[in-house]
Amino acid sequence: MITYLPFADGQWRMSMGLKALNRHEWIEIDERFAEELALKGRLLKNQYSDVFASLPESRLSQKEVLDLLLNYLLDHFPQYYQQQGTIIENICTGEVWNLADFEAAPLDLAGRLVQEDLLLMQASPRGYILKAASLCFPLRWRLAEKIGRPLAQIHAPVPGYQDKLECPVDGFFERLKWEHPVWRLNWSIVDTPELFLLPSIQASLASQINTENAGEKLWIRVERQTLRRLRESGDILFTIRTYVHPLNILEDDPPMAHNLAQAILQIPPDLHSYKNLLPIRDALLGYLNQVAAA
Ligand code: HEM
Repeated sequence: MITYLPFADGQWRMSMGLKALNRHEWIEIDERFAEELALKGRLLKNQYSDVFASLPESRLSQKEVLDLLLNYLLDHFPQYYQQQGTIIENICTGEVWNLADFEAAPLDLAGRLVQEDLLLMQASPRGYILKAASLCFPLRWRLAEKIGRPLAQIHAPVPGYQDKLECPVDGFFERLKWEHPVWRLNWSIVDTPELFLLPSIQASLASQINTENAGEKLWIRVERQTLRRLRESGDILFTIRTYVHPLNILEDDPPMAHNLAQAILQIPPDLHSYKNLLPIRDALLGYLNQVAAA
């Protein structure tokens, strides 16, 4: 598994933090491939409306996403995927799909092929609107509350977004060129390794987390996000790849534990609350300082 540690510089900023994406590094596959695709399959079977949504006007660009993704996967990972006519096979998991079964929701099939979540945005006079999503690994938000909404409204619960990010993000979406995809990282400390997380006040009994056990009971959750404009439709595809590591991986790297503690101290208080850090903050900082001093 790739380990992205976006707090490595000990800084925290409310910024877009976009970098140019090498187009050969769009999708990432690792040793959790089969396990995470199986989890997606269970979620799509048992609670479809929690993890997939689409509005009818997005169908053509959903198809554009599926075509783009299939071309990419067949080209970059021929050891994992195979296509014969309308039949797609995942060689690793043994799953077989028929394109004809997904004509009404091509993004549904696209989401079943990769570990990434896929979200499709379309321009409107109200800004870019979420028109379709295959979202199996949300970090405590509900797709049903975001579908059909513009970016500004989607981010309404995020403290500081309106002041610091709304204008830059909206401007960036307007200017994004299909030839120049980008990526960014977002990170959180969470009290569960579960990938599918709906909103909840508290996932665990935070009072049971202390300086001694924080390394096993807390997790670093990193989202690697990419954005690209679709060439034909002009819509924008947002991908989110979620990586979860136990916090105790930092025991091998005390300076990194120090930098994470520094970054956490710079997060404004209202964001601490939004990111559910308040109940675990003391245990977390106590643990990190202990590891950093080792
Ligand atoms: C350059 C583009 C973007 C930036 C800079 C950005 C920034 C952010 C930030 C800073 C957060 C708070 C996350 C945290 O610290 O835990 C957030 C949350 C979120 N973002 Fe974005 N975002 C971008 C694009 C998008 C897009 C395209 C979507 C599409 C749906 C999206 C959906 C969300 C959602 C659903 C949340 C959680 C909101 C909630 O808690 O209700 N973001 N974003």
